[in-house]
Amino acid sequence: MPRIAVLPGDGIGHEVLEQGLRVLGAVAPDLSFEHFDLGAERYLRDGTTMPADVMGRWREEFDAVYLGALGDPRVPSNVHARDILLGARFQLDLYINFRPVRLLDPRYCPLKDKRPEDVDFVVFRENTEGLYTGIGGQFKRDTEDEVAIEQEMNTRKGVERIVRAAFAWARQHGKTKVCMSDKANAMRHGHDLWQRVFKSVAAEYPEIKASHLYVDVLTMQMVLAPEQFEVIVTNNLFGDIVTDLGAAIQGGIGLAASGNLNPGKAALFEPVHGSAPDIAGKGIANPLAAVLTAGMMLGYLGRPADEKRIQDAVAACLREGNVTRELGGTRMTAEVGSAVLDALR
Ligand SMILES: NC(=O)c1ccc[n+]([C@@H]2O[C@H](COP(=O)([O-])OP(=O)(O)OC[C@H]3O[C@@H](n4cnc5c(N)ncnc54)[C@H](O)[C@@H]3O)[C@@H](O)[C@H]2O)c1
Repeated sequence: MPRIAVLPGDGIGHEVLEQGLRVLGAVAPDLSFEHFDLGAERYLRDGTTMPADVMGRWREEFDAVYLGALGDPRVPSNVHARDILLGARFQLDLYINFRPVRLLDPRYCPLKDKRPEDVDFVVFRENTEGLYTGIGGQFKRDTEDEVAIEQEMNTRKGVERIVRAAFAWARQHGKTKVCMSDKANAMRHGHDLWQRVFKSVAAEYPEIKASHLYVDVLTMQMVLAPEQFEVIVTNNLFGDIVTDLGAAIQGGIGLAASGNLNPGKAALFEPVHGSAPDIAGKGIANPLAAVLTAGMMLGYLGRPADEKRIQDAVAACLREGNVTRELGGTRMTAEVGSAVLDALR
């Protein structure tokens, strides 16, 4: 019986995960869940961000973590979010941030005349290195002479394993193209390493066309001609940014799912969106990203048919206009959850 650690977190994380759990209950009733009371509320109550034993428990006792979102304006430092989310990515060594960009219904695409087959690619974002390691420092803080340094870390091992993961996924799924994106023209050390590693791994996959775009051109091309992409691999920061753009072209941040993976190990699944403090508590958040994320989790647990059932049910909701207001609908969060359950039946 797969064991899932559930972490609603902050803001709309609670609202969207509730619907995701209803869907999981219907599709995979054999899963067992343990809820973790972590997030801003807990931090403000007793100062706990991440208890010492939890990461080890996630690693040893659970197959996956299902997370809502972390971030709360009452904790401006976001220390709890960093400890929990970045902590999990680093300590569980979840080096793949897997983010599909798939248009389920053309009505919700902001791009002109795009069909579902035109917006259908995946992004492999490096998830444990780059600019998110916190390496750096501040000097003469809060003075006129202040210096702040943020260092980007790229290791050969780290770059190679994410690039290899992208090619391996492409081969396994019958894809023919992998595009690597960096900024090697301006960032000559770390991104030169990406260039060399990409070329050497690509040589092992002669049937796959390996291409390269600087990240500024990538963002432009994602809008102008998203149909050219099948698999994109990039670093932590660029992946973070381009997948929000990806979310927008697939119909909005409320539809974007993601998995933090290290194949064979406990993984962490979360919608791409954050805790959306501006709409939290109003019951209007779109739960479909969390629902699709639940589907992705089932796929990872070896149940691709269940993942497909959930995707089809979400597509039916979109088709029938059972959507929240940011997509032009009138449904509340829980009503969208019920519509997914109806579509599953
Ligand atoms: N993985 C995560 O947990 C994660 C990711 C991004 C941001 N954050 C955190 O979330 C907080 C808010 O960040 P932000 O405002 O930059 O990003 P956000 O994704 O929370 O919100 C951006 C905009 O999208 C809207 N939105 C987001 N999700 C939605 C949904 N499901 N349905 C309808 N509308 C939705 C919000 O209302 C807001 O207008 C910050 O503390 C940030 O650090 C957390």
